[in-house]
Amino acid sequence: MINTRVLLASRPVGLPKNENWKIETVEAGQPAEGEFLAEVLYISLDPAMRGWVNEGKSYVDAVGIGEVMRAGGVARVIESSNPGFAVGDYVAGSSGVQKYWISNGRDVRKVDPELAPLPKYLGVLGMPGMTAYFGLLEVGELKAGDTVLVSGAAGAVGAIVGQIAKIKGCRVVGIAGGEDKCSYLTGELGFDAAIDYKSEPLYPAVKKHCPEGIDVYFDNVGGETLDVALAHLRLNARVVICGAISQYNKTTAPGGPKNYLSLLVNRAKMEGFIVFDFAARYSSAIRDMSRWIDEGRLQAREHIVEGLETFPETLLMLFDGRNQGKLIIKV
Ligand SMILES: NC(=O)c1ccc[n+]([C@@H]2O[C@H](COP(=O)([O-])OP(=O)(O)OC[C@H]3O[C@@H](n4cnc5c(N)ncnc54)[C@H](OP(=O)(O)O)[C@@H]3O)[C@@H](O)[C@H]2O)c1
Repeated sequence: MINTRVLLASRPVGLPKNENWKIETVEAGQPAEGEFLAEVLYISLDPAMRGWVNEGKSYVDAVGIGEVMRAGGVARVIESSNPGFAVGDYVAGSSGVQKYWISNGRDVRKVDPELAPLPKYLGVLGMPGMTAYFGLLEVGELKAGDTVLVSGAAGAVGAIVGQIAKIKGCRVVGIAGGEDKCSYLTGELGFDAAIDYKSEPLYPAVKKHCPEGIDVYFDNVGGETLDVALAHLRLNARVVICGAISQYNKTTAPGGPKNYLSLLVNRAKMEGFIVFDFAARYSSAIRDMSRWIDEGRLQAREHIVEGLETFPETLLMLFDGRNQGKLIIKV
């Protein structure tokens, strides 16, 4: 069996380029005792990938030069020497950007294509869904009646954040790029308002749509957007630092938030988090999310691009906003 895989060839400076990746074909290999071999069907593309290929200390080790690019994936077991996994099982885990994956089963969960289409396990029922759920409810300490502002609002995490906030009885304003994404938020997802940051100045728009200020700001973007949100906090507001995609390709260090003294004046807090810290509680979150999906109160879309070889170009869609929902490669 021949494996096609994407390796990190060199560390990107700024936006990743084709030359930073190497696509190669090699023997897929055989699973050793305790391992299984799986055919990867879908691969998750995440903004975090940009951080994983940087040198230096982070919340996970950097992907090494010459290593298979790290990625979440959904796969079907085709050979198994691990008693926990049978041929035909569908599994989700850190498959890497490759066609065949050998795993010892650690941190791998079984998924059921009868319960949800497989791509959903990389989106709303996977890491981005968990990020939205725990980031908003735990880190953001959401309360009914809160005014919630979320950036990256039409994306995999942001769209779920806004809908959970609506389910919990909040007023929700989303920030997204472009008219289509904004009308998706207010028309289909039930957001109370949407701000197109690409066509309107952010500060007056946030002031207009959050006239009483913001109780929870869920930040996916960082930079100027975070500054504007800080300038509109209410008393005891919570600022959730989920991500800062506007900063990931910068070649200079990110500037500090200008308006941080708003935290002091408003007795507010700002807290970052990593979704993996909540892994022990994913199953209860998935139960809630599945119920909301069944009740028609939570929806999610996936943006699926075909072909493993498209990885270098498809990844860039995250950084110019071409993805409409959770970005996934169908292998
Ligand atoms: N803390 C955690 O554990 C954790 C876990 C998962 C994800 N995250 C973070 O959550 C955020 C969203 O991830 P996702 O998977 O849901 O991605 P996504 O929102 O589906 O896709 C990224 C979106 O970011 C927006 N964007 C790109 N460059 C931007 C810029 N310079 N300024 C403003 N917006 C920009 C684009 O939307 P527009 O068209 O609207 O510009 C793009 O569609 C990322 O920051 C990611 O790192 C954190």
